[in-house]
Amino acid sequence: MADHRDPPSPGPAPGAAPDAPQITWGGRFSEPTDAFVARLNASVGFDKRLYRQDIAGSKAHATMLAAQGILSQADAQAICAGLDGVQADIEAGRFEWSDALEDVHMNVEHHLTARIGAAGGRLHTARSRNDQVATDLRLWLMAFIDDSLLPGIDRLQGALLDLADRDGQAILPGYTHLQRAQPVLLAHHLLAYVEMLERDRGRVVDCRRRAAESPLGSAALAGTPFPLDREATARALGFSRPMANSLDAVADRDFAVEFTAGAALAMVHLSRLAEELVVWSSQEFGFIELGDAFATGSSIMPQKKNPDIPELVRGKTGRVFGDLVALLTVLKGLPLAYNKDLQEDKEALFDAADTLRDSLEAMARLLPATTVRADRMRAACEAGFVTATDVADYLAARGVPFRDAHHVVGRLVGWCIAEERPLTALTVAEFKRFHPIFEDDILTAVTVEASVAARISQGGTAPARVAEALAAARARLSARLG
Ligand code: ARG
Repeated sequence: MADHRDPPSPGPAPGAAPDAPQITWGGRFSEPTDAFVARLNASVGFDKRLYRQDIAGSKAHATMLAAQGILSQADAQAICAGLDGVQADIEAGRFEWSDALEDVHMNVEHHLTARIGAAGGRLHTARSRNDQVATDLRLWLMAFIDDSLLPGIDRLQGALLDLADRDGQAILPGYTHLQRAQPVLLAHHLLAYVEMLERDRGRVVDCRRRAAESPLGSAALAGTPFPLDREATARALGFSRPMANSLDAVADRDFAVEFTAGAALAMVHLSRLAEELVVWSSQEFGFIELGDAFATGSSIMPQKKNPDIPELVRGKTGRVFGDLVALLTVLKGLPLAYNKDLQEDKEALFDAADTLRDSLEAMARLLPATTVRADRMRAACEAGFVTATDVADYLAARGVPFRDAHHVVGRLVGWCIAEERPLTALTVAEFKRFHPIFEDDILTAVTVEASVAARISQGGTAPARVAEALAAARARLSARLG
């Protein structure tokens, strides 16, 4: 019989091997770390992603130490050149990451010292991995926001606006309770998502502002006796200022929570768009057809074209919620200052960031390849009595109390349902049977075009209003893209 069990867990961590590198903190210890513990303790598998920030932080720190006379200029130069070499090795794939060296910080420092000797051992003066990791993670998030996330949001907004330009004049039923309600322009519907993304952007920008404070120089928790210039390292690394309190600096992960909360809400918005794409591409709706490149087939049912990509985006929303709950839970009740629990911050933050970036990208790629079936949207309007409110408005505008008008039109719609006729197929004489005030112009008022054109209130779906909104959204985006 086939064995479906997992293979045995991997052997001892490389750290337990006799030729393992000497652990930086090993002085106090007389026994080597248990191999299983070494593997559990190691974060290098995921935090090596911080190597650029780690190296930049170390260079800024060494340069500042030399400027303050804490380190010789020669040592600082050797350290900076050595770190450049380490970075080149990493980027050329020549760097051997070691679990025994726990994390990115000790891996980099170990290789630096192997390259340049004693000067490497002076780098950690007036520093701890506690302020180091907080610095690295903040820098990483700031760069991710600048280089991946904000451009990703801009790109999806651009794709929504392009689709609005291309097919936005199509009229579809707007829904409440997923029941056909009132007709709206497709452009109006798409612009709703542009607004959601604009708020998402604002949240990320706001989070970045608070993330941009430097923990570096707080050392382990209490500060350091060395005469540091924390302003200088903050400035060199692109932070706005040093953090005010050393305990807070090493213990705080609010920036990770804020970012992930913002990411969770952005995923909520993408999941709503995804859901609409799934529903609209169903045969029941048939409002859109996804491009072949963005759909998949079934392994058994030859006729299927499945909306896997929007479904995945919808599904991945759950991961990001999970990341947020994980971060909040890690921090809840955690005493000051650094605790190893905080090592659990990175995978959650990275996962939330990557998932949001990829979901934005998937949507931005999928929208231009989507075909809009304006005829199907229009047919759904006709069958859905979506202009019933306009008929009631017609009566109300001619002096019938709105509540009475509502009742009259309710009876009229009930009759149409029984007769299986859309509102637009009725004659004036038939309208008059329900109220004598109806005149010839009701035949125009009852069309979806007239309904949409009438909704001229600010933020409404009238074509003129939507054209203004589209121009404003385009201008806002262009101003950003420069
Ligand atoms: N890998 C650690 C983390 O991610 C770095 C800080 C370790 N500090 C310590 N005191 N053990 O949190």
